[in-house]
Formats: sequence, structure tokens, C-alpha cells
Amino acid sequence: MKPTAGIIGIGHYLPEKIITNEDLVAQGLDTSDDWIQSRTGIRERRIISEEENTSTLALEAARKAIQSAGIDTSTIGLVVVATSTSDYGGFPSVACQVQHALGLPNIPAFDISAACTGFNYALTTAQQYIENNMVKTALVIGADALSKIMDWTDRNTCILFGDGAGAVVLSQTEKSKGIHYAELFSDGSQAEILKIDNERIEMEGRAVFKVAVKNVVPSISEAILKAGLKNEDIDFLIPHQANIRIIKQMSDRLGLSDDKVVTNLEKYGNTSAASIPIALSEAFEKKRISSGDTLVLVGFGAGFTWGINILEWEL
Ligand code: UT7
Repeated sequence: MKPTAGIIGIGHYLPEKIITNEDLVAQGLDTSDDWIQSRTGIRERRIISEEENTSTLALEAARKAIQSAGIDTSTIGLVVVATSTSDYGGFPSVACQVQHALGLPNIPAFDISAACTGFNYALTTAQQYIENNMVKTALVIGADALSKIMDWTDRNTCILFGDGAGAVVLSQTEKSKGIHYAELFSDGSQAEILKIDNERIEMEGRAVFKVAVKNVVPSISEAILKAGLKNEDIDFLIPHQANIRIIKQMSDRLGLSDDKVVTNLEKYGNTSAASIPIALSEAFEKKRISSGDTLVLVGFGAGFTWGINILEWEL
């Protein structure tokens, strides 16, 4: 019988430097706190310092997740990092930097590029390694520092994003708990609406908004059914923290009340691949989610990509 993969440890890290909406206005950006809050729900975001990079964030989050799992670091057999902003802009991977910094042996370590859906892709990939008995324990990280590739004079994009990292330790677990269902999607015909071109983010905001709601909501409903569940069985939706209006449209269409939806974008903005594990980690830290809860993790973003993981929380 195949083993099940479950999250046995979780942690997150956010850089200390805060940039508020007012700070952006003070820097000369043609916007206002009121506009940003009412259109996005975002009040402030965190930004890396000169000394930090994506791997710094990833490593801090990883150390917290390992500590929370209470495992010996040397038992980790795989490192997967979801990121679009690796330190070297391509290779070597952040995963290799983390493998080395943690003093791990020569295990597989690689990055996954699926933008804001990256954590769903990374988690699902590590899940396959565990279910197929290739490894017993994996470190899965979502880490991004989009501030490095931001045009701080472009009010269409720079108001939305922030830096951060979240990590989980995934391990073989009790049959009844862990990840029950995972599904990943792509639609490359929408590649142009959100891209990094000439090392800068370019976005057609309205198009992204529409594609996100149109594609993702039916996929969540189907995934819930395929997992043998009903919408009322869902204890918490942990959506990618893109825009409070996107999240609200999704939860309304799924019939989920606000108390079942985890959001933190007010404080951190959209941290891309890090947004889901940071939200999950904070919800756990604040004791909002507890053992036995059924969670739906939903990511969506450039590609266009989207992905869903349904799991029973066990910490
Ligand atoms: O992980 C996925 C990442 N991307 C996303 O999630 C983006 C999804 N899209 C969005 O979040 C929204 O489309 C935005 C927040 C980007 C924009 O909100 P919107 O309600 O779709 O506004 P809009 O683009 O339709 O623009 C409305 C107006 C425009 O002015 P006019 O043409 O009506 O005169 C814009 O020029 O708001 C103007 N505008 C701004 N005004 C003040 C655009 N950005 C700003 C700004 N401050 N920062």
C-alpha cells in the first residue's frame, strides 16, 4: 500500500523592512493608500535588505519548519524550492544553496518555476517522491523576493508584491491524514498577461483578475468533489494572497464564509510562491487551524498556472 504524505512541520520568515502604502506615495508614486486598500486589501509589504536574498528567506523559513517538525535535519531526503527570483537569476538553484547551508548530504535538490502556483507544484512533486517511497521526508519551500525585479515607478505592479518565505516538512504519515488530493493546471495561451520581461514584472491586472476567477473557481469545486468531499466539509481555504477582491469572489462562489478563509495580504501583499505557506504557517501559529481540519490550498498565477491541494491537517 502506498504511504501518505503529510505536513509534520511548518515555518515562515519575513524580512523586517516594512513599506507602507503611504511610503510609496511619499516616494512619488501616483497612487493613494485609499486606492490600494480598496482595490487590493493591501496596507503594507515586507522588502529584503541589501544583505538578504531569496535563499536567505528560504533558509530561515526552512530552519523554523525543521524545528517545528522536531526532526534531525539529516533525515531530509529531498529539497524542493518554488521560486521565480533565485539569487543567481537561473542557476545554481536556491534548493542547492539550502541543501548546502543545512549541511545535507548529496540528496536531490531543485527549484520549481510556476510563479504564484509554485508552492502547489512543489508540494505535489514532493508528495510523489514520498508516496512512491523514494524518500521518507522532504523539505518544501516557497520563497520569493519580487522586490528585486520590481519597477518601483510602475503603479500597476509595485503596489501588489512583497518578499517572504514559507516552508513545510513533508513526511510519510498516518493513512487517514495528510494530502488527500492534488491537481495542477496550466494554460500557456495566457502567458502574456503576467510575465518577467527584461528583468521586470509586467502585468495586465484586469486580465489576470478575470482569468484567475474564471479558471480557478470551477477547478476548486471539481477537486472538492473528486476528493469525496462537499463544500461544507472544508474548514479552511488558504488561497494565494493576490487581491482581497479575487479571494472574496472565490469564497463567495464556493459558499465559504469569511471565517473559513485565511488572509494576511493586508500585512505582506502578494509574496508569490511564498504566500500560501506563509498564510498556512501564521494560521497554525495563531492556533486558528488545528489537527483534523480539512484545508484547501489554492494557488494561481503566471503561466497561467493554478493548482489545488486538499489535506487533513495533523499538527
Ligand atoms: O499572483 C497573481 C498576481 N497578479 C494579480 O493578482 C493581479 C490581479 N489584478 C488586480 O489585482 C487588479 O486588476 C489591480 C489591483 C492590479 C488593478 O485594479 P483594477 O480594479 O482592476 O483597476 P484597473 O486596472 O481597472 O484600473 C482602474 C483605474 C485606471 O484609471 P482609469 O483608466 O480608470 O483612469 C488605472 O490607471 O485605476 C488606475 N490605477 C491606479 N490608480 C491609483 C491603476 N493602478 C493604480 C494605482 N493607484 N496604484
